[in-house]
Amino acid sequence: MSRILVTGGTGYIGSHTVVALQQAGHTPVIVDNLSNSNVRVLDQIEKITGEKPEFHEFDLCDEQRVRAFVAANPDISGIIHFAAYKAVGESVQQPLKYYHNNLFSLINLLNAYAGKPVNFVFSSSCTVYGQPDQLPVTETAQVKQAESPYGNTKQIAEEILSETAAAFDNYQVISLRYFNPVGAHESALIGELPLGVPQNLIPFITQSAIGKRGPITVFGDDYRTPDGSAIRDYIHVVDLASAHVAAIDLLEQGNPNGNYDVFNVGTGTGNSVLEVIRAFEASTGVKLDYQIGPRRAGDVEQVWGDVTKSTEELGWKAALGIEEMMQSAWKWEQYLKANPLS
Ligand code: NAD
Ligand code: WQD
Repeated sequence: MSRILVTGGTGYIGSHTVVALQQAGHTPVIVDNLSNSNVRVLDQIEKITGEKPEFHEFDLCDEQRVRAFVAANPDISGIIHFAAYKAVGESVQQPLKYYHNNLFSLINLLNAYAGKPVNFVFSSSCTVYGQPDQLPVTETAQVKQAESPYGNTKQIAEEILSETAAAFDNYQVISLRYFNPVGAHESALIGELPLGVPQNLIPFITQSAIGKRGPITVFGDDYRTPDGSAIRDYIHVVDLASAHVAAIDLLEQGNPNGNYDVFNVGTGTGNSVLEVIRAFEASTGVKLDYQIGPRRAGDVEQVWGDVTKSTEELGWKAALGIEEMMQSAWKWEQYLKANPLS
């Protein structure tokens, strides 16, 4: 079927999406500079699907390399653009690193495809909503002032894409606003590879459980939520991957909503930090050591998505629950211990 450029395809969400694309009959072509991923992921993908994806190693901030790639690959009909830096805290310390990488890579791609018909799927984030005024949050909710340079790159990128799609008919764009992606492929052959001490909850939990880290700190138990801890909409990375296939399929059919569209990608339900800890214990049988600490700066109290639009118009719905998320994340952590990838 279609050859789809997957930027950042050796990364966490990208690698799961490459598997989903291959299994749906598409031919993914990965471009990644390996700044936050490991080339061995390609062999891991081959172990799952029997097919080693085509891979090009270069930096999307290199405009000449992007143009040369596009010229040499005229049959690419779709792009899923994952490549970006994503560490919220680091973006506060080094904002220019984030604006440079996340925006130049996007602009270079859009420039290189000028005048060529292309279906473009962008990795956005629920971070654009900040603390929503109403829950569940719908796609029409106000985009709030970003809490970090990272979050701002997502807001600016969405604006660049909607303005570009409005000005030039050749770009058909969907921005997917992910909630909190977690878990790993059921084979445990691919998953998240956090660098250093994980800032995100689930990798911290699995590393703590396996003995790589000390006790988990729950950041705040005095929020206005039923148990006092913060609430998020956790989405299994395998479900998230299939949302990208649905987005490519919708763009290939022609999106009746026009050439720029936005979808929430979550489960539609929220879980508190304490509920996640209990779900991990219940679904893996592993006891966690945790303590309550102060709130983390920049955290919102609670957010979960309204998924009516993605269900009805994207034709996609999450199938996997919190138990599958926890079990697969734990299986991946155990696999990594036995088979270190780096
Ligand atoms: P990741 O770091 O695992 O994957 C990103 C990949 O992009 C990496 O393999 C990295 O090497 C590559 N990359 C970065 N800059 C590049 C460049 N200039 N040229 C070529 N390759 C480059 O991250 P992920 O969790 O898979 O996230 C994928 C996308 O989804 C990102 O855009 C991220 O902002 C977005 N997102 C992630 C989350 C999350 O919690 N993981 C949530 C919302 C949105
Ligand atoms: C989840 C909850 C923490 C670690 C981040 C980005 C967001 C998006 C997804 C990219 C929060 C609590 C965490 C710990 C804890 N990424 N927590 N102890 O902050 O919702 O979202 O990743 O777009 O932009 O900000 O995810 O996993 O860091 O935290 O109590 O050791 O777990 O306070 O309530 P977050 P997270």
